[in-house]
Formats: sequence, structure tokens, C-alpha cells
Amino acid sequence: MEFSIKTGSTEKQHHNCVIVGVYESHQLSDSAKAIDALSSGYLSNIIKRGDMDGKSEKTLMLHDVPGMHSDRVLLVGLGKEDGFTDKQYAKAVRASVKALAASGASEAVSYLVELPVKALSLRRKVSLLAEVALDATYRFDAIKRKKDAAEENDAKKGVKRLTIHIADATHVKEAEAGLADGKALAAGVSLTKDLGNLPPNVCTPTYLAEQALGLGKTYGLKVEVLERAELETLGMGSFLGVAKGSEEPPKLIVMQHLKGKPGQKPVVLVGKGITFDTGGISLKPGAEMDEMKYDMCGAASVLGTFRTIAEMGLPLNVVGIIPTCENMPDGRATRPGDVLTSMSGLTIEVLNTDAEGRLILCDALTYAERFEPSAVVDIATLTGACVIALGHHATGLFSNNDDLAQELLQAGETALDRAWHMPLWDDYQPQLDSNFADMGNIGGRAAGSITAACFLSRFTKKYDWAHLDIAGTAWKSGKEKGGTGRPVPLLTEFLVSRAGHAQR
Ligand code: BES
Ligand code: MN
Ligand code: ZN
Repeated sequence: MEFSIKTGSTEKQHHNCVIVGVYESHQLSDSAKAIDALSSGYLSNIIKRGDMDGKSEKTLMLHDVPGMHSDRVLLVGLGKEDGFTDKQYAKAVRASVKALAASGASEAVSYLVELPVKALSLRRKVSLLAEVALDATYRFDAIKRKKDAAEENDAKKGVKRLTIHIADATHVKEAEAGLADGKALAAGVSLTKDLGNLPPNVCTPTYLAEQALGLGKTYGLKVEVLERAELETLGMGSFLGVAKGSEEPPKLIVMQHLKGKPGQKPVVLVGKGITFDTGGISLKPGAEMDEMKYDMCGAASVLGTFRTIAEMGLPLNVVGIIPTCENMPDGRATRPGDVLTSMSGLTIEVLNTDAEGRLILCDALTYAERFEPSAVVDIATLTGACVIALGHHATGLFSNNDDLAQELLQAGETALDRAWHMPLWDDYQPQLDSNFADMGNIGGRAAGSITAACFLSRFTKKYDWAHLDIAGTAWKSGKEKGGTGRPVPLLTEFLVSRAGHAQR
């Protein structure tokens, strides 16, 4: 989809479609009012008849509205006018783009940016519009040879162009900056979705490493890929213990975006990259096991975020570390009862080979120490228990530093990609006790997402650290099965805000 910014009166110009809003109070937005006046009350009549109640996400496509040069007017319900929020705004944008995609119009002009949204700048409104429009029209068809008829029809139609109308010509620069932000974010989100959606026989650890190297080439980032022999030298016995059962060689990907001041301590992002999680010898049940191809979404979110901040040229030092391998059952695979020695020297009794995410992350977290980070954030589809606790709306957030936790929570609120703060109290630590090693890798059924975080906390004592459990938010099941691109918006907002502070 192409975007452009326009100012001035466009009612007289010819568009396939003009997008305007109406509140559930039946109050029209400014441009809807203008169209209503131009058409001698055509819009207000329709609303009076009850065909559009202005409820959030409702849409009504009107054709050949009198007095209009454009073919269509799309009325979008906005919901409550009082305290109109960024969430309502995003919903209206999404609904309008979906309705547009389902229509015969291939381009449109949207007037939704004119809506006053509590605490949102014009730049943010434009950025959010582009981000949501691109998210709503994302499609994964890279490996579908035969598109079904309906999709083929849609593809032909598609929305090719969206013009964003802004009221004030003196604000074009601000709007252009917002458009660039939104497109950069959407590019990262789309990469994260693509990597999640790819089948596990394509998206292997080697494939992820190639993606990182590709990003490095495109954006001039420093990217290293550490192979098995180097991981052995580093003493990453925990990570290697997970990789042992697979024919696919493990990789440790290290990426560096160094656009901050020289010497500035970097933010380190660590992403779980299990390209398929069978559970290993503690084999998972068969139902929906295909979804364990998404177990690399933490890694994908690091790659996506790097794409976004590189596009933006964000003035900050950021390091990405991705431990990636498969978790497979095999004659050589790690057994329940085996004891592994991690890079930190701490020993781990593997009581369940399906708790493998923490085993690859702990070595990557130890490796992170060498960058003398200002903060480390790991992102992982770590526990089913997190899905039970928070469902599919909030990412689970754990941290050894309350300020860092607040920063990430705020970034999630701003980015409409929310997280919820979970406890990391010492009270839970004894659940990891082992009779045979420094710790076990599981803590029993109770508080499963917390004991997983407690396990990681034992490897993050030397720096400020937060852990994002994205098991419930990284992808959707059912009819809309697919990667969501979360938490790229949260991470980007967190880094953008850090870069802002660093400059001041
Ligand atoms: N990748 C899974 C977590 C997961 C499960 C994510 C379901 C999304 C949906 C992780 O490796 C895992 O298997 N965790 C176990 C831990 C348990 C053995 C302590 C789990 O959550 O069941
Ligand atoms: Mn597992
Ligand atoms: Zn897993």
C-alpha cells in the first residue's frame, strides 16, 4: 500500500472513496459535516433512518453521494465522543481499511486524522494510521501456489493507495515524519509475522541467521553468527543440551545497531529462537503441535525491531542476541534427569526437556554481560502458564528493576501493545530447588510463568533486566491463525523513548 499526505479541500477532487467518521452520539466529524452540507443532509438522513449508529467499528459504504466528485463515502463508527481514545481511533482506522479492502475501491482518502484524540500529536496519529492500515492488510501468501478464488479476487482489488488528509498545511512536515515512523514500524511487524508464519522446515536456525545477515547487509549493521564449536568453547552447555537432539545446527546470532553516542551502554534484546518445539524427550501431546513453529517469535521480534530501528536510524546503541535451535527427541537428545552446566557455571537438572526456552536463554543472558548493558530485555514464548494467567491480551512482564518495568509498561500503553507486571518475589525461588544440581529447570504447576522468570533471574544479577513472556500474544490460533508481530510496537516505543532521553 502506498501512502501520501494531502492538505486543502479535497471534497472536490476525485477519489474512489472518502473516509469520514461519525460518533455514537450521531455527531459527525468535521469533514463528515462538510459532506453533509454539500449533499443537503444526505448523511444525517441516513443516520436518522438508523442505518449507521456510530458504534465503534461499524462501517457503511455509500455510493454516489449527491454533490460529491468521489465515487464513494465510507462512514466509520467512532464510538463515544467524550474522551475519544487512541484505542478507539485505531479501531476506526482498522475497520475503515477492512471495509475498503472488501469494496471495489483501490484507493481512498482518509479524513480520520482530523479527529481529536486525547494526548495524541498529529505525528502519532499519522503514524498510527499507517501502522494499523498496514497491519490490517497484511497477508502471508509467500508460499501459497494456488490462491483460492475469493483471495485471488481480493488480491486483484486490494487497496493500492491511501491518501491521508491533514487539515493544516503548515503541519505537513510533522505528518510526513509520522508516516515514516508508521511505515518503519509496519516493516518490522511484517518481518516478525512472516518469520513466525513460515513453516519450521523453512524457518530453521540457519534461516534465521541468514535473515540477520541480510538485515546487516541492508542496513549496515554488525552481525555475527556463532556456530556450535564456538558455543562449546564458550561453555554454553545449557543451550547445547537443548540443541543436541536435532539435525539442525544451533546458532547464536549477535547483531549490533550502534547509532548512539560512542561509548553509550547498549540496550540488549535477547530473543528465544526455538524454530520448533516438540518438547524433546518430554514429548508434547499431538494436538496443535504445529503451532510450536511459533516458538521462535521472540527471536523474530528482535529481528523485526532491528529492522524498524534501522529504518528509523534510531540514535541509540542496541545489541540483539538470538540463541536459536530446534527441540527434538532423538537418540542423542538430552534426557529428563540429565544435568547440564551453563556458561555461568551454574548446574541445571533437566526435569522436563519441554522447559527448553529457559535453557537456551540462560546462556544468552550470560553472554549479554560482555556488552556492559544499560538494560537487557528478553522476549520469549516461554510458558503455557502465561497464557492461562493473562490470555491473549497482555504480555507477561517480569523485572529485577521497578523503573525498567515501569518504562516497558508505559511503552506498551503508548504503543497499544500492552504488558502486565507480574511478581518476581523470592518466595517463588525454592520451587526450583534440586537435590542433584544448583537448580531444576521446572518449578511445578503452580505459578509456572513466575518460576520460569525466577529461573532466568538467576542469570541476570549483573544488570537491569526485564523478561517479556509473549506466549499468549505472539500469535493467534483458530481461523485467524498467524503471527501478530507483537511485541515489536512495545519494544520500538521503549527504544525510541530511551533514544529521546539519551539526546536530552
Ligand atoms: N514453548 C513452550 C511454551 C508455550 C506453550 C508457548 C504453549 C505457547 C503456547 C515452552 O517451551 C514450554 O513447553 N513450556 C512448558 C514448561 C513446562 C514444561 C514447565 C509449558 O508451558 O508447558
Ligand atoms: Mn517447550
Ligand atoms: Zn518452547
